[in-house]
Amino acid sequence: MNADNTIIDIENKYHELFHGNPLCIQAPGRINLIGEHTDYNDGFVLPAAINMSIYFAIGKNNENVFSFYSLDFGELFTFKDGCAISDTYPWANYLLGVIAQFKKLGIDITGLDCVFGGNIPIGAGLSSSAALECGFAFGLDNIFECNLTKYDLVSMAQKAEHEYAGVMCGIMDQFASVFGKKDHVFRLDCRSHDYNYFPLEMNNHIIALVNTKVEHELASSEYNERRKECEQGVDILKEFNSSIVSLRDVDESLLIENKGDFNPIVYNRCHYVVCENQRVIRACSALEKSDFREFGKLMYQCHEGLRDEYEVSCKELDILVEETMDMEYVLGSRMMGGGFGGCTINLITAGYENTFKNKITSIYTKKTGIIPEVYFVKLGDGVRLINQ
Ligand code: GLA
Repeated sequence: MNADNTIIDIENKYHELFHGNPLCIQAPGRINLIGEHTDYNDGFVLPAAINMSIYFAIGKNNENVFSFYSLDFGELFTFKDGCAISDTYPWANYLLGVIAQFKKLGIDITGLDCVFGGNIPIGAGLSSSAALECGFAFGLDNIFECNLTKYDLVSMAQKAEHEYAGVMCGIMDQFASVFGKKDHVFRLDCRSHDYNYFPLEMNNHIIALVNTKVEHELASSEYNERRKECEQGVDILKEFNSSIVSLRDVDESLLIENKGDFNPIVYNRCHYVVCENQRVIRACSALEKSDFREFGKLMYQCHEGLRDEYEVSCKELDILVEETMDMEYVLGSRMMGGGFGGCTINLITAGYENTFKNKITSIYTKKTGIIPEVYFVKLGDGVRLINQ
């Protein structure tokens, strides 16, 4: 599989396979600085879109045929009229899921041709699936002139993931892919959907992602399980305070006082989420003061919570985080995204990129036998047209 395609490759393939001039679109992946597993608990997150994207060339045909070509996989999927979930081409389900959302709104999606591909590593926790859903939703909105809002697209993309990929994800990934802004992170309140952009004046700092290159099987089943455990916690806490709707409404003190009523696993899950929400607020104040040391400490605390209380880390992620602890140029490091593989996110002092890359690659390879990948990412804009 070639996961390093550019818009030129995508457009060329479109012209080779189909007729007419397509609309070209770029939809980015995302990082999340802090606020993990808080989005589906109505909490806070601090994501950003990145300069790794999926590109699309998309156009209507008047034949009532749907053709999708994945350039990364070199596979063509074609159907007429309606289509159920595909077992043969799992990637097509994200697109089918998006079409289903348009149909639910009564929008008539007639035949179309689409080629897509890009440079977001798949299974690395950088939300290539959200980029696929958001870019395609944005494309349909444009070619069928639906005039949906950006928020509509986010919510339809999220529903596509729920219904066609079976992951009951929160809203962060799709939100970041649509609302990302160059050189900014944003704090999103996942209850009200209010968001504030923060310029990330990194000056002397760099964001480095280290890809474990593992993606453990458990990821989606355990994800849905965590969601249920959080809901169980809310049911218990409602008995003490009927105004509690989600873990967002819970104080750490209320949780501690009532620890005896909890099964220890559910308690740990809730404790992690309640503390993580606080950490996002503290991390934003640290950013406002350009206090990157404090920000980095919060990242390490977040990892500890994800590893010990939320139990979504894995040995490979833990090795990567632990090994940074005596690198004085690393301010913070933690697993990022859903967990059970994917990347760590690291805040490092500028000028140490090569030192960091060489050292972490050699230690990780020695300890696991796997050669990791290291990406130094920049923050980019959300989904957009690129040939206008
Ligand atoms: C995945 C989900 C998001 C979010 C993160 C964990 O990326 O898609 O909604 O829950 O995990 O923070």
